[in-house]
Amino acid sequence: MHRSSFCTKFLKRKLSSSSISSSKPIPNETIGAKKRIFSGIQPTGSLHIGNYFGAVRRWKELQDEGEDVIFSVVDLHSITLRQEPKELSRNILNCTASLLASGINAEKCILFLQSSVSRHAELSWVLACLATMPRLGHLPQYKEKSVSMKEIPLGLFIYPVLQSADIMLYKATHVPVGEDQLQHIQLAQHLGNTFNARYGHTFPPIKAMVEESGVARLRSLRNPEKKMSKSDPDPKSRISLVDEPKVIVEKCKKAITDFTSEVTYDPEGRRGVATLIDLVSLCTGKPPHQVCSENSDIDTGKFKLRVADVLIETLKPIREEYNRLVKDPSHIKSVLDNGAERAHSIADKTWSEVRKKVGITLQK
Ligand code: AMP
Ligand code: TRP
Repeated sequence: MHRSSFCTKFLKRKLSSSSISSSKPIPNETIGAKKRIFSGIQPTGSLHIGNYFGAVRRWKELQDEGEDVIFSVVDLHSITLRQEPKELSRNILNCTASLLASGINAEKCILFLQSSVSRHAELSWVLACLATMPRLGHLPQYKEKSVSMKEIPLGLFIYPVLQSADIMLYKATHVPVGEDQLQHIQLAQHLGNTFNARYGHTFPPIKAMVEESGVARLRSLRNPEKKMSKSDPDPKSRISLVDEPKVIVEKCKKAITDFTSEVTYDPEGRRGVATLIDLVSLCTGKPPHQVCSENSDIDTGKFKLRVADVLIETLKPIREEYNRLVKDPSHIKSVLDNGAERAHSIADKTWSEVRKKVGITLQK
């Protein structure tokens, strides 16, 4: 199946862009700022279907609608947790290849590697001087990730400040992300307002764009209490975009369900089965109740095999394109280099303006 026909099969969904409230009013002159979209993804492992349905699919739609879009493979974020250098470097390549294979088109957007544009780290420092420790300490992702650590890296604590810099460096107005990122976008909005109040109007208001459908967060196949995540040590907890068919079958068979054999949709009471139904619903565009009625004749054991079939069929064009792309790392590198050059020229302008406003430059 060709990629475009596979994409049109998807549900027409509602996207909500939630304007995020902040402590200071947004000055009038920043309202009506030019719409620009920015988002990022960490190259910590192969992209999974939660990344795809939670973020990347929307990136592609926005890019295809002709929006001004900038996407970054955020490698500086990924080192907040320990990474094996060779593996990280391989993951940067693989992550970029899976974005391209998912339909991200470097001619319609700017796609670049975060660390290639040094202004991210520089603006991050300026913003770190405006952020407060209690505010960062309350962010749920930080709390979740640090709870089991004996020694918490400073980078993990200030990671959302770097994320704010990513967005603000391009004066982005809209940020498409999964709902787990909402509080981080809220911080960016807050830091933008704080900067504007202290140094004069510089940054536009920032809106998070989140999926309004009930599946903004796909759950782990092994522990339906947790979200599907690249960093889960159990690879069976997630379906990678480039998993081979037999791996997909194996993962679906091992997916945690419960002791009831009917296929019914109860996202609170039967989370494991609901995740499988969500997957079919997302891949086919059919609402969950229709998926249930079409599978009322089989038990959850057989349903798992149907889920595998649907996933294999849906992911086939991405996997094939990915396998073609990873054979040519120099092409991927040139895509990222070209993106970095374009990103740098925008970032440089914002950085000069920030330096002037903050006073960290010599007066002429
Ligand atoms: P990450 O894997 O943390 O780099 O996330 C990249 C993007 O995918 C972010 O916009 C996340 O909100 C989104 N995302 C990550 N995991 C999931 C999931 N399980 N379900 C839906 N969206 C997700
Ligand atoms: N923190 C995001 C995540 O873990 C990734 C990210 C980094 C991002 N910088 C960003 C997302 C800027 C949106 C905008 O998924």
